[in-house]
Amino acid sequence: MQYKRTLLITGGAGFIGSHVVRLMVNKYPDYRIINLDKLTYAGNLANLKDIEQAPNYLFVREDICDYERIREVLREYEVDGIIHLAAESHVDRSIRDPFTFAKTNVLGTLSLLQAAREVWEARPEKYEGKRFYHISTDEVYGTLDFDGALFTETCKYDPHSPYSASKASSDHFVRAYHDTYGMPTLVTNCSNNYGPYQFPEKLIPLFINNIRHGKPLPVYGKGENVRDWLYVVDHARAIDLIFHEGRTAETYNIGGFNEWKNIDLIKVLIATVDRLLGNPEGHSLPLITYVTDRAGHDLRYAIDSTKLHKELGWEPSLQFEEGVELTVRWYLENQDWLDSITSGAYETYYEQMYQGR
Ligand code: NAD
Ligand code: DAU
Repeated sequence: MQYKRTLLITGGAGFIGSHVVRLMVNKYPDYRIINLDKLTYAGNLANLKDIEQAPNYLFVREDICDYERIREVLREYEVDGIIHLAAESHVDRSIRDPFTFAKTNVLGTLSLLQAAREVWEARPEKYEGKRFYHISTDEVYGTLDFDGALFTETCKYDPHSPYSASKASSDHFVRAYHDTYGMPTLVTNCSNNYGPYQFPEKLIPLFINNIRHGKPLPVYGKGENVRDWLYVVDHARAIDLIFHEGRTAETYNIGGFNEWKNIDLIKVLIATVDRLLGNPEGHSLPLITYVTDRAGHDLRYAIDSTKLHKELGWEPSLQFEEGVELTVRWYLENQDWLDSITSGAYETYYEQMYQGR
């Protein structure tokens, strides 16, 4: 089949990437969607079971740091759009192992940019009809006080964790490729996502799983840190809209104006899981366990996404209460998915399938 365009989505086997791949595969049958993923501990092809047989979907196991292989893939499939999500994404891991974050998030992004530059500049039409869209985070802006201020697109970068420092650096490289070589780039900075298929090291799936099993809920510090939560499908919808209609070289913030203090959010999770499991009210509250705070723990994130609302008309489709209900139900109904991760079974399967590649 002759496809209208070919998109390469990196990190498509991860949490947000799998929702973006699913949306694109289903919504654009005339696009070829290539999911390029290394399948690190965070990559899981079970996240894409429902679309893996779609005729317009292709999975390629590669490392974004392998610049020559990436160049071959871009050339071979005549990729004209890149949506770049592949990254190391967990702050706690970045504190333990900063080098891996610098390698994947900084050098991996640079290798993808340079491969795209070489392939696209070699074509007669050069950058015409091309797009390099980099998915970033609100954490690059640093932290806010409890004064009601919000992160806007013009806030200065002030990252505090090795994770956010590596994402900030990758954002700068993407913008540099626009300013230096004229590559049509876009960057978006989104707040905390939640929903199905999130790796259970992150707050919401970890706590749902622990409540289900009656295990302690490790709350960092006093639980007073604030995060701005967005349902992952709404992030994927924003990515689709911005990829197609966003202005080149622009930055858009994405967020749901939905701030929650960690401890309040945890109490909502406890109440929801207890209700759905038929436990008496307050049954799992004693699982709350205050532990040593995360080093360099940012106090508050809050995104101002007015630009995206005004320019492109994007609105979140779900209220937080509906999103939490859907999410908790999904994890309770997909215990097998969680178990295959917590037991490590999914990684063994890939090792056998790809024989150590
Ligand atoms: P994730 O950790 O769930 O998934 C990351 C994916 O990238 C995995 O499938 C992994 O296998 C893949 N990957 C890692 N290193 C790779 C490499 N070297 N080559 C190829 N693939 C590789 O991450 P996520 O939470 O879905 O986040 C996706 C992107 O969105 C990241 O860039 C992250 O910084 C950004 N982001 C995340 C959030 C959030 O709340 N989760 C919010 C804003 C922005
Ligand atoms: O803001 C966007 C970012 O959101 C993304 O860029 C990151 O990839 C993503 O991981 C997320 O980062 P956070 O550090 O905010 O998410 P996490 O789920 O790890 O933690 C949410 C909050 O909960 C944070 O204040 C730390 C706290 N926490 C987390 C864990 C895992 C706990 O109190 N206990 C825990 O066990």
